Amino acid sequence: GEISNLRNKEHVAEQVSQFVKNGDTIGIGSGSTSYLALRKIASRVAEEQLDILAIPTSKEAEMNCSYLGLTTTSLVAARPDWGFDGADEVDDQRRLIKGRGGALFAEKLVMASSPKTYILVDESKHVTKLGEKFSVPLEIDPRAVHIVETALGDFPCEEVHLRMAAAKDGPVLTEAGNFLLDAKFHHIGNDLEKELSAIPGVVESGLFIGYSVEILTV
Ligand code: A5P
Repeated sequence: GEISNLRNKEHVAEQVSQFVKNGDTIGIGSGSTSYLALRKIASRVAEEQLDILAIPTSKEAEMNCSYLGLTTTSLVAARPDWGFDGADEVDDQRRLIKGRGGALFAEKLVMASSPKTYILVDESKHVTKLGEKFSVPLEIDPRAVHIVETALGDFPCEEVHLRMAAAKDGPVLTEAGNFLLDAKFHHIGNDLEKELSAIPGVVESGLFIGYSVEILTV
């Protein structure tokens, strides 16, 4: 149930906070599981007076860092020594679907810059077939909506939806002012991430294949 799930997430958060070393620059993930880890890290940093820099993967993560007293920097000024993030689905080859929260673009930039990223998930995120529950989010330039929808016709893609905002009229706008298309695939091969990036107007996808990740589950 909800309570044992929260306890499990707390346990993983505690584990990640133990990896923090004085002087580290750390990539900070988005989402609820990452937030728990961030809180644990912030209390260790305060108690032990550690000197760390945070590179947030979203405005939400940046604000949380500020509230918790962590100094933030950017990928332009620094590179992470390591990072942590959540995921929506993980398969047994450590391939990920991310982007339920819409922060996939910065999440990928930070992960691509990190020698290692801890992925914090509970058992419910593990799947035998990647894409069995979630669609793959695509961050696209708004002008490319028809180009991308048409191009997806050549892929094993069942359905495509423009992500609509719940609390505003019209589509969700990402931090970069782009749209999100949620594309459901029958089959996700190892080349799909690169094939999607090759469509004109696709800024980034929520498929993460071949990154240096370690999955932490309870
Ligand atoms: C944000 O864009 C996502 O990639 C999150 O990392 C993912 O949705 C995990 O969030 P939870 O930890 O809240 O499940």
